[in-house]
Amino acid sequence: MLKVSNAIERFGTEGAFEVLAKVKELEAQGKKIIHFQIGEPDFDTPSNIKEATYRALREGKTHYSHSLGIWELRSAISNYYRDHYGISVDPNEVVVGVGGKSLILITILALVDKGDEVVCPNPSYPAYESILSYVGANIKFLSLKESKGFSFDIEELKSLVSDKTKLVIINNPQNPTGGIIPKEDLVELSKLSDKFGFYVFSDEIYDRIVYDSKFDSYLQLANKDRCIILNGFSKTYAMTGWRLGWVVVPKFLVPTYQKLAINVYSCPPTFTQYGGIEALTGPQDSVDIMVREFKKRRDYVYERINQIDRLSMIKPQGAFYAFVNITNTGLSSKQFFEKLLYEYNVAVLSGTAFGKYGEGYVRISYATSMENLEEGLNRIEKMIYDIGK
Ligand SMILES: Cc1ncc(COP(=O)(O)O)c(C=O)c1O
Repeated sequence: MLKVSNAIERFGTEGAFEVLAKVKELEAQGKKIIHFQIGEPDFDTPSNIKEATYRALREGKTHYSHSLGIWELRSAISNYYRDHYGISVDPNEVVVGVGGKSLILITILALVDKGDEVVCPNPSYPAYESILSYVGANIKFLSLKESKGFSFDIEELKSLVSDKTKLVIINNPQNPTGGIIPKEDLVELSKLSDKFGFYVFSDEIYDRIVYDSKFDSYLQLANKDRCIILNGFSKTYAMTGWRLGWVVVPKFLVPTYQKLAINVYSCPPTFTQYGGIEALTGPQDSVDIMVREFKKRRDYVYERINQIDRLSMIKPQGAFYAFVNITNTGLSSKQFFEKLLYEYNVAVLSGTAFGKYGEGYVRISYATSMENLEEGLNRIEKMIYDIGK
């Protein structure tokens, strides 16, 4: 067999998709698995968005579009920043891509050369570390601390950045921790970005899924020439399969993004972009209903987990994940994950699927029904009880 490239070895993978493959095998054997590993809303895409897309298909919007996305969608995204955050974004500063994920790749390819220093949060969404490793970046991991609501320690950040830093990545609200970085920490980060002249990539794909306070976009606080803001339709509008996301970037970087988009995918899918326009400009009640439901589930999971001996968690402020502290069980994250999956048939993700500082935790996604949450948490409780016997 011909060998694949050496470069491919440098890519990581994404735990959620790997676990799904294991779960499918167990299900094929007739096991009833509770899915707490999923990173997508369990709601259907709202019907007004689907209708707008059917219309686009009927009208023949099935050809290539502009490689940066259609103008009407880029304008709707610009209006989103005006209406939600009170900031002015030119549609020419918006790049639409094939899901947020393609734009993580493109951003890193656009900004980072082999050996460049990049600060990456840990634990965090696995695509960052994977793609940074692929390009050969010199990665400096910034640990997220449960004691700080899963924000970072400013002193640690200061110790990691210098005039050699090319890029700092943040994710807010966070996957996998559910944490939100407080405004003060974002302001400190922006001051460091000004001092040393590095870019900040702020992944805000969960910006609408917040529970107890108003969310501050990094774009409101920072120098627009030094930041890239990622967002998309997957989470807010339950559109994971539509593959539609966007970034707001400094205007001078747009031609670079365009060049990469042309080389990788030519353009985002055309008809789904019409669904995206409807998502942003149509009624928003489905988002409110979904977030209200997530909040109810978050409160339930928080209460149940903290009632279980040797497990604990802090209250997630956003996204739909609980990052559960398992250090008192005596098991590693991987052992906990395997025992729970193979013996109790509940699929979670090991904290280490999100980086080395995820040790001591597992991630539960509460993007599933209350019935499943109740059953899955009963099984987790039983496992902990059995360990203690
Ligand atoms: C933090 C974060 N960023 C980006 C993405 C990518 O989402 P998509 O490619 O579906 O837009 C995800 C998906 O799980 C995520 O959790």
